[in-house]
Amino acid sequence: MPVVAVFNQKGGVGKTTTTLNLSAALAREGLQPIAIDLDPQSHLSWSLGYQGGQGRPTVSAFFREEATLRALVQEVQTGLRLIPASLDLAKVDALFGKSAAATTRLRAGIVASFRDEPGPILIDCCPMLGVLSLNAVLAADHVLVPVSADFLSMQSVHKLDAALRVLEKARGRPIPRKVVVTRFDARRRLSHDIFAQLKSYCGADLCETRIGETVALAESPVAGQDVFAHDPACTGAREYWALMEELAQCGFL
Ligand SMILES: Nc1ncnc2c1ncn2[C@@H]1O[C@H](COP(=O)(O)OP(=O)(O)O)[C@@H](O)[C@H]1O
Ligand SMILES: [Mg+2]
Repeated sequence: MPVVAVFNQKGGVGKTTTTLNLSAALAREGLQPIAIDLDPQSHLSWSLGYQGGQGRPTVSAFFREEATLRALVQEVQTGLRLIPASLDLAKVDALFGKSAAATTRLRAGIVASFRDEPGPILIDCCPMLGVLSLNAVLAADHVLVPVSADFLSMQSVHKLDAALRVLEKARGRPIPRKVVVTRFDARRRLSHDIFAQLKSYCGADLCETRIGETVALAESPVAGQDVFAHDPACTGAREYWALMEELAQCGFL
């Protein structure tokens, strides 16, 4: 039950795209992942074809103590289970604050529900370090940080590192992390510069696999599909598959 939080406090860097396609790759590999959507915007849920409503409870019910995480699991594709989100998840921040008890609820819920699950659990975080993301990071064995290949995104890595160091103190053990460059455009000098800067800053914590900017990755969620279902031969599919293999090889998944 390796738990991976896909987190960066910056929006638009590819957190949801990465959670979606890594989960799909793991499902195709027969590893029975569970994806948890922890963003009130619910983009992961939509991208996996989950239509809100339907009278089914979402992850908010767990935070309101009305359901266990296991009771919220839905099989959205063969071998891929999702705990969906809904907009009311935004209230969790206001309801519980950032006390120690409020930020360790997800870890306790995951252990209680999925202790015996062999498959990885991936958490798609929202772009803020509020109580939801704190829950995700404190629940995680590893943090995967997508960073898009642009200047502002590079700045976010320094801030994130500082935040993770504070959290490491709070939980009393290191938070192993990997940074993956997304939206890489090989024709742009800036993309190469950013990759080189990240390499010198992160060293072995930077994934060798880079995710390029490709139309199929942007289009697949519109059809409620992951990239493997949408266009299995495209570069995006190859790269997310390679990312899964790289993360599995280094014991991250
Ligand atoms: N590698 C990529 N190539 C093309 N479009 C991408 C890529 N990664 C993400 N996108 C698109 O960029 C937007 C933001 O990505 P998303 O994964 O939702 O970011 P985040 O979850 O960090 O906010 C989405 O419209 C998504 O489809
Ligand atoms: Mg997102």
